[in-house]
Amino acid sequence: MKQKVIPQNALLKLGDKEVELPVVIGTEGEESIDINKLRDLTGYITLDSGYKNTGATKSAITFLDGELGILRYRGYPIEQLAEKSNFMEVAYLLFYGELPTADEYSDFVEKTTKHTLVHEDVKKFFEGFPSNAHPMGQLCSLMCTLSSFYPDSLNPNAGKEEIDLTMIRILAKMPTLVSWIHKKSIGHQVMYPLNKYDYVTNFLYMTFGMRSEDYIADPVIVDALDKLLILHADHEQNCSTSTVRMVGSSQANPYASVAAGVAALWGPLHGGANQQVIEMLEKIKSDGGNVAKWVEKAKDKNDPFRLMGFGHRVYKNFDPRAKIIKQACDNVLSKLGIHDPILDIAKQLEEAALKDEYFVERKLYPNVDFYSGIIYRAIGFPTEMFTVLFALGRLPGWLSQWKEMRESNEPIGRPRQIYVGATERDYMNIAIR
Ligand code: SDX
Repeated sequence: MKQKVIPQNALLKLGDKEVELPVVIGTEGEESIDINKLRDLTGYITLDSGYKNTGATKSAITFLDGELGILRYRGYPIEQLAEKSNFMEVAYLLFYGELPTADEYSDFVEKTTKHTLVHEDVKKFFEGFPSNAHPMGQLCSLMCTLSSFYPDSLNPNAGKEEIDLTMIRILAKMPTLVSWIHKKSIGHQVMYPLNKYDYVTNFLYMTFGMRSEDYIADPVIVDALDKLLILHADHEQNCSTSTVRMVGSSQANPYASVAAGVAALWGPLHGGANQQVIEMLEKIKSDGGNVAKWVEKAKDKNDPFRLMGFGHRVYKNFDPRAKIIKQACDNVLSKLGIHDPILDIAKQLEEAALKDEYFVERKLYPNVDFYSGIIYRAIGFPTEMFTVLFALGRLPGWLSQWKEMRESNEPIGRPRQIYVGATERDYMNIAIR
């Protein structure tokens, strides 16, 4: 096969000017043109709405190939991590770049377990929310509220120890907050973490346990949720992670940066899609399950309806996470003895879309959100809780990306623009004489 020649520089011709811009190649062969000097050399900036062609940073955390449907955390394929690892080990891997030794792992788990309790005064804020407040709004507020209880974490020049402790605190406390949000929505007393449980079991205990009863976690459910958290743990520079990095680039503290990530993830085009998928499938089911009709609606430009859980900015092939979750769906539901008719609708919808020219042409495949909600539902979570579960999984990715950005001393993020508004004009007092 002909060896591909990688140029050292890109040559840009602008009118009578020619400038050379350096080429930067990643460890997986991704190619880029470094435009750091573009404006100095030419007076021009680039314009790229939605950053579809723009790399914001160099990162060593996650690699994904959208054409080949590849996803790796720190070089490890997601398929292997989902099958053989657990969420705590994956969180350690994302934080520190290597898999832990046995001692490092037990130390990490012990430190995380020790910080699961949330300060009682946080409840004063929490109790102010109406019981039907959307879980993402509550989580976003509570995450930022936590910063008030750890003033040392506000120091932008905190040392490695302090930053590490803050990351562990956030990782440890989010399950407690998420479980409290669920308990409030069903009018139950909140539960407190029990350190005898592992991370996922503790979360399930606080979410579904009752003070008056012993809690026996179903290993099928613990395994399914652990796998879902692993699959959501990081995804390079997606909307919410880029938000965490952008907010962190101003030297804002990790709590505020993660709260911003929660806010970005809430959007229905991003993490909010997992809630929308279930609502869409329910709507199709109550409409008689006419899948063909809804596929046509999704194609109709005059119809705002989109096939939620389908399509992706980067994956132009199957989202590898969706493949794993789809397999887990069948496995978990059959082990739990659940037949959920919307799983059948989801499969019919996928089959219809993948045969339809509109979706094939645009390379629209099921993404991570298409099947995840069906498992969350089988575990017993209400639909409105699905996106906070996405946030719980994405948390180690957000924190790792924040840490990487701060350690590489990246400058404050401040994109430029092309102004298209009114040119200069003199003030005329039209309204006020
Ligand atoms: C996540 O970035 C990440 O990594 C995100 C994520 C992560 O782990 O962080 O993977 C998690 O957010 C997954 C995506 C969840 N969102 C959804 O499922 C919502 C439905 N999907 C779309 O809205 C859309 O596909 C996006 C937002 C995911 C991607 O949008 P893009 O890249 O901006 O693509 P686009 O909107 O320009 O679509 C290209 C074409 C358009 O048609 P044309 O104008 O070319 O005729 O495809 C069409 C779109 O109308 N299209 C869809 C569609 N998605 C795209 N048509 C119908 N249904 C859809 N779902």
